Amino acid sequence: MERKDKEETSEQKNQNKISLSRRNFLKTTAAATGLAVTSGKLFGTPLLITAQGKGRAIGPSDELKVALIGAGEQGRILLDCCLRIPGIKIAAICDIWEYSRTYASGYVRKYGQIPNIYEDYRQMLDSEKDLDAVIIATPDWVHAEQTNACLNHGLHVYCEKEMSNSLEKARSMVETARRTKKLLQVGHQRRSNPRYLHAIETLIQNRRLLGRVMTAYAQWNRAKSEMLGWPKKYTIDPQTLHKYGYGSMEEFRNWRWFKKYGGGPIVDLGSHQIDLFSWVFKANPKTAVASGGVDYYHNREWYDNVMVIYEYATREGAARAFYQVQTTTSHGGFYETFMGENGSLVISEVPQRGNWAYREAHAPDWEPLVREGLILSEAPPIQKVETRNVFVDVRVTAEAGRWPLPVELAKPAHQPHLENFFEAICQGIPLTCPAELAYESAVAVLKVNEAVQSKTLLRFTPEQFKA
Ligand SMILES: NC(=O)c1ccc[n+]([C@@H]2O[C@H](COP(=O)([O-])OP(=O)(O)OC[C@H]3O[C@@H](n4cnc5c(N)ncnc54)[C@H](O)[C@@H]3O)[C@@H](O)[C@H]2O)c1
Repeated sequence: MERKDKEETSEQKNQNKISLSRRNFLKTTAAATGLAVTSGKLFGTPLLITAQGKGRAIGPSDELKVALIGAGEQGRILLDCCLRIPGIKIAAICDIWEYSRTYASGYVRKYGQIPNIYEDYRQMLDSEKDLDAVIIATPDWVHAEQTNACLNHGLHVYCEKEMSNSLEKARSMVETARRTKKLLQVGHQRRSNPRYLHAIETLIQNRRLLGRVMTAYAQWNRAKSEMLGWPKKYTIDPQTLHKYGYGSMEEFRNWRWFKKYGGGPIVDLGSHQIDLFSWVFKANPKTAVASGGVDYYHNREWYDNVMVIYEYATREGAARAFYQVQTTTSHGGFYETFMGENGSLVISEVPQRGNWAYREAHAPDWEPLVREGLILSEAPPIQKVETRNVFVDVRVTAEAGRWPLPVELAKPAHQPHLENFFEAICQGIPLTCPAELAYESAVAVLKVNEAVQSKTLLRFTPEQFKA
């Protein structure tokens, strides 16, 4: 699975290279996001401390000292984002694997920062006296332990999604954040992406574009792939693997596929997109019915292909969402579609895969929305007339014209989410994905595996989403 996450991010990276140099990121779509990104050592001056609890006081001329726990594929992407943000100092990197420690620290040093390196996060917390925040990008099963320890240490935490592979452990994270009054941002980065904010909060929720949204569809399909290997000289000895709870090198590298460590593809990939359903419908699901199985691979524990249908009770009435994750076909890739009475909107974290709306023929005129700058002018329909079947009506083969969305993100997809976290620490703005919200999403996602197993309709109660 990791291989394709990499593919996604290299696609994003290429796109970002076009308009992004390391220090000119501030000029991007701050206006569209409402992010108060200005000059100054961090995000602007003065820096106000509004987060509470123990921890050091941050002054106006300070930088934020940040540590990373888990310097694998995603940890390195987050490090790269941090290096683009003025005022962020990578003070420490912790990883149980020498390969990740060496790779990540070497990368950071190229940018003139010299982090302290640790194998065990407990030693890091004991030794590092002036940290402000920790970014956690370890496998899901250790998120709760590490997040709770950091919060209890008086540190703010950015923890990757999924919060945990267990709802009980996810709930403990919410409780610790609440008790320590420290910030806990969870890595559903679409929540801070100006393209998604525009699509969902400006276009969909004002109802002028799509009208009432009845249906959502999202998918993440990727081609079949082998289990991940590792450079043999970096094989971890069995005692160390055991010390950190891993059964073998193969499990350590492919943790996503094993029940002890992760939630399988539906959790790994679905967590991003199922979260959007609740955002759009402003409601948590009422029911879920799902089908899936270990259909193709014989060396993995989690379901390799899953389909789930949710029912929602929105303020306007019933709505439904269908989600599928496939790991044996890349057909269609990954994107989300929201279908309303007056049109549909297709969006993807990679804009080439989705960044436009389709208008129903009967819908109110969208030209006023174009004049307001909310959408761009309709691109001409694509005529698909290359057919030998002369009886096919050209109107049937023409795709509707696309109305592109106007907001761009000329920086890596995870950067606005980290910026939101750092701004929340320094300026007291609200987090876009605080622990309580992420917990609601975790319930909707993690329960799918139960629905697959039980083969029955799963009914949610509102209390289940409260931590
Ligand atoms: N937001 C996103 O778009 C996105 C994308 C990919 C992954 N993720 C999330 O990021 C997290 C990491 O995923 P990944 O793809 O980088 O996995 P990975 O296997 O590439 O990296 C995990 C790293 O954590 C280290 N590690 C494992 N146990 C540890 C421990 N107890 N203490 C310290 N280090 C430990 C490993 O050595 C490895 O370097 C997961 O929670 C995943 O769901 C998020």
